[in-house]
Amino acid sequence: MGVRGKAMTVVGKNIPHDSARGHVTGESIYVDDVPFARNELLVDFFWSSVAHGRIRSLDTTAACGVPGVVALYTYADLAHNLFGPIIKDEILLAEDVVTFIGQPIVVIAAETREALRRAKAAIKIDIEKLEPVFTIDEARRRKQFIGPTRHIARGDVNAAFASAENILQGTWRNAGQDHFYLESQAAIAYPGEFDAISVLSSTQNPSEVQEVIAHVLGLPINKVVVTTKRMGGAFGGKECQATHPAAIAALVAHKTKRPARVAYNKDDDMRVTGGRHPFQNDYKVAFTNDGLITGLQVDLYSDGGAFADLSTAVMGRAMTHVDNAYFIPNVQINGTVCRTTLPPNTAFRGFGGPQGVATIENIVEEIACYLKRDAVEIRMKNCYGVDDRNITPYGQTVKNNLLPRLFAETIERGEYQKRRQAVTEFNAQSKTHLRGLACTAVKFGISFNTKFLNQANALVNVYLDGSVQVSTGATEMGQGVNTKIRQLVADEFGIDIDMVMLMPTSTEKNNNTSATAASSGADLNGSAAVDACRKIKARLAEVDRGRNLPWRELVQAAYRDRVSLGDRGFYSTQGIDWDVDKGCGTPFLYFTQGCGISEVEIDRFTGMMRILRSDVLMDIGKSINPGIDRGQMTGAFVQGVGWLTTEELRRTPEGDLLTHSPTTYKIPNIQDLPEIFNVDWIENDANTVNIRSSKAVGEPPLLLGISVFMAVKNALSYVSNGAIPKIDAPATGEEILMRLTAYRHKPTFVSS
Ligand code: HPA
Ligand code: MOS
Repeated sequence: MGVRGKAMTVVGKNIPHDSARGHVTGESIYVDDVPFARNELLVDFFWSSVAHGRIRSLDTTAACGVPGVVALYTYADLAHNLFGPIIKDEILLAEDVVTFIGQPIVVIAAETREALRRAKAAIKIDIEKLEPVFTIDEARRRKQFIGPTRHIARGDVNAAFASAENILQGTWRNAGQDHFYLESQAAIAYPGEFDAISVLSSTQNPSEVQEVIAHVLGLPINKVVVTTKRMGGAFGGKECQATHPAAIAALVAHKTKRPARVAYNKDDDMRVTGGRHPFQNDYKVAFTNDGLITGLQVDLYSDGGAFADLSTAVMGRAMTHVDNAYFIPNVQINGTVCRTTLPPNTAFRGFGGPQGVATIENIVEEIACYLKRDAVEIRMKNCYGVDDRNITPYGQTVKNNLLPRLFAETIERGEYQKRRQAVTEFNAQSKTHLRGLACTAVKFGISFNTKFLNQANALVNVYLDGSVQVSTGATEMGQGVNTKIRQLVADEFGIDIDMVMLMPTSTEKNNNTSATAASSGADLNGSAAVDACRKIKARLAEVDRGRNLPWRELVQAAYRDRVSLGDRGFYSTQGIDWDVDKGCGTPFLYFTQGCGISEVEIDRFTGMMRILRSDVLMDIGKSINPGIDRGQMTGAFVQGVGWLTTEELRRTPEGDLLTHSPTTYKIPNIQDLPEIFNVDWIENDANTVNIRSSKAVGEPPLLLGISVFMAVKNALSYVSNGAIPKIDAPATGEEILMRLTAYRHKPTFVSS
């Protein structure tokens, strides 16, 4: 109930995204839309064009002489060069050794873009080439790892293998993925008095940007203010790696006392930043003749790139998602991050979860092939139970488990059995095309897998006309967190949504905040905002003394009574725990679950694949904003499909990225959507542990894109002459065609 006894009305409604109009009209302001300040400098950096090498000499004299160039800086101009979110192994500007192509070496500040370009070309560098490492295999051979190998284990896998009715083993690989946010990395730094510095940054993590800037410049953190109005997409790419442009801009502003702007162009952004982690996973699985999994060993290896970044946490999430929807009694999961000489890989929507889940879904698909059963039967047989068989390998109980229901309803609504028969008949008849069908599941753990990050604070100010400003650590990247928090606050006060405004995220108003990440932006920050509202409401109730004053009168009465009309809220997730060394605990507050069925059709001549139909059914609790959640489910699914089917990062033998623009890097577009695409969720208000019984939705649906990949694998099983079809991700048209060719599978020309 609102302050005045008005029923809550806004949560659960399709309130438009708070930038919907602005995005369409162009009124929304992004970092690089901010008008240039007088004196403002443009900043760029000269980077390494060698993947691994020792800098023998660096000569910037000619570059300094380029007209319009104002300053050049190297690591020697920084107070500290070493930083990193988990392991402090990352250097902002290369010293004597370079470890990836795109690594910043010299920062250039100039009056014009033309001067920047000419200065970059005028820098003379001599780099002695050292042996690069571009693959997980090579890093393993050289034992080049980041952090220790971690383990999650339960039961006795060796005993399970010893007594197994069947054993399969193999390796499954997935490639990386570029974030492909539409707004590239960008920041503007403004110098203030007495070394203060104020930064506009396109970041998911203003507090981290603030901390790193203070650190590299040798300033106390309170000298730095970082503000984020919005991002034009982020997808994890701005969780850590927005720090570099911001720190470089801040360095220039700090040294020159002039505003300084960095905005990567798309090609540079794709070349110098890291992406999703490639994984290479060795597996061995034991199962009964009925398809019940009795033991599983998986050795996960990821390509972390040159620096640790978030790689160890990403690996942790991969390891806790290898079980996915399936109860596995005896299990041994080992996770190792490899160090290569490629740009550091980082957070990417799903944060290792997709790599873990795709691994087990691939295994289940292979068990089905081997036993000549339908994969959905194997999935349901191994699915976590509601009252038993519901404890994960790391010891967390899967509460309110809706997976069995989701499987049943998805299969029913998606007419799986009927379509299975149709696909089989089609494949027997068609000489030109091949179809495949698969149903996969997702069980995604919600909470940062680093316990202390699960906290948030909020500031709520009520003004004399009754209007409200809300500030939290949440950053708006298009996902609609601002709208959800507005809805929550409007309902707390029982006021109209238009009375509530979400303010730009700023480290001045909210301190030591976590990245808006792990799908938990609205959970954590929404809860903190509600906490602030409740403190204000308690004071207003005393002012009201049962008079039932209208909101605006009540606010004014409180002001005249000298009652505070603003407050801070705080929230920390209760009941979670995680022992990273032992690999056990309850790392997640709850799980967001779902199932997806996809049907694909492959052209037997070209390998080209299209998605005939996808059905996505999820449990997202009680939705705060169904329209926004539908958008997240649709977009995440398609982004997952892109990762697994069309997006392919190709490099030269020297490690230089060739696919650094949309002409060569194929993200899905509107024609690539499933031709029939049903996105829905089931009613469920059991998730009372979270704000208004809602569930996080940003990342989990991405993992249902795996159903498309498994449908491709399923299609191949119709022509693989009884063998288990092997295919790694991405399953591009080219890759599919190579499989078809390997099976000596010949399409037949038909005359019509
Ligand atoms: N997700 C995103 N970012 C993170 C996480 C996580 O689980 N843990 C640490 N940083
Ligand atoms: Mo994310 S990959 O939790 O920004």
